[in-house]
Amino acid sequence: MTTTISPETTYNLAFAEDVRKGLTSEPKYLLSRYFYDEIGDQLFQKIMALPEYYPTRCEYQIFQQHGQGLLRKMEGNPFDLVELGAGDGLKTRVLMAQFLAQKAEFAYLPIDISSHVLELLQKSLHEAWPDLSVTPIEGEYFAALQSIGQLSERQKLVLFLGSNLGNMNQEKAVDFLGQLRKKLQPGDYLLVGFDLKKDPEIILAAYNDSQGVTRDFNLNLLRRMNRELGANFDLSAFRHWPSYNPLTGDMKSYLVSEKAQRVKLEALEMEVAFRKWEAIDMELSKKYDRPEIEWLAEVAGFEVEDWFYDEKQYFADVLFRAI
Ligand code: AVI
Repeated sequence: MTTTISPETTYNLAFAEDVRKGLTSEPKYLLSRYFYDEIGDQLFQKIMALPEYYPTRCEYQIFQQHGQGLLRKMEGNPFDLVELGAGDGLKTRVLMAQFLAQKAEFAYLPIDISSHVLELLQKSLHEAWPDLSVTPIEGEYFAALQSIGQLSERQKLVLFLGSNLGNMNQEKAVDFLGQLRKKLQPGDYLLVGFDLKKDPEIILAAYNDSQGVTRDFNLNLLRRMNRELGANFDLSAFRHWPSYNPLTGDMKSYLVSEKAQRVKLEALEMEVAFRKWEAIDMELSKKYDRPEIEWLAEVAGFEVEDWFYDEKQYFADVLFRAI
């Protein structure tokens, strides 16, 4: 829902309410899903190409090396390849190229909340593979999955890649996988990307890159509030502070106020006070190990069918089977 507050300023009501909730909580937090405005999308593309940010490259490698192994799990049956949050579909192309080379019979159904993203994806896939059946579905994941269930009875291979699950806390991750399970039939597959626990230095560097892109990615949410909510955050007065806990696997990012300051948010008709060194909790990027992944699968109604790793075992795409 959008509301017009002045001719040139429209803002998203949900964004505004989530910001109000987060900045009036103790401790303060913001939801990382709001990182992804136009500039945020560009910064994330830059992050994925950073030398320190290994997850994207690992997942590419997994698909290159294990695409055929994954296809064998479908046992030659025709299937629907459903991708949650398809984006530019770059990684999935690596997979699809292998499926097509093996003459697999499948349709690709990318789901995304952005119709623009889906249009671009469909166009570029059509140019590359004119015969591939592509049915883009715009919307929220679960509503889209519901309609896919009604579209075809074929076996499903659902992709939830890129360690997106790591951005949810345990309660949300369990709830998300449980809801997903309800939209599937026994025997359907779900491939989930998990970033794994590893040398803490490597993890920390991925979120504290030397070019400062991840810092800008976090600060961009303050800029977004300035633009969309009429706020007056001084970006130079907040420090990006990433921190990794090897016990829990929680890779956290904070923005720390370097001075006592007050920030106005006109659209919310409120002013927020920051104490010197007070932090805003910005993002969780949880790192997993095998027992945690097995537990998650089980509580959500899946069994682990197979594990696909990159060469260094930094990352795993884990195949869950609905039971
Ligand atoms: C999208 N998500 C899986 C990324 C991550 O690693 O948590 C977002 C990100 N945040 C900082 N760098 C990348």
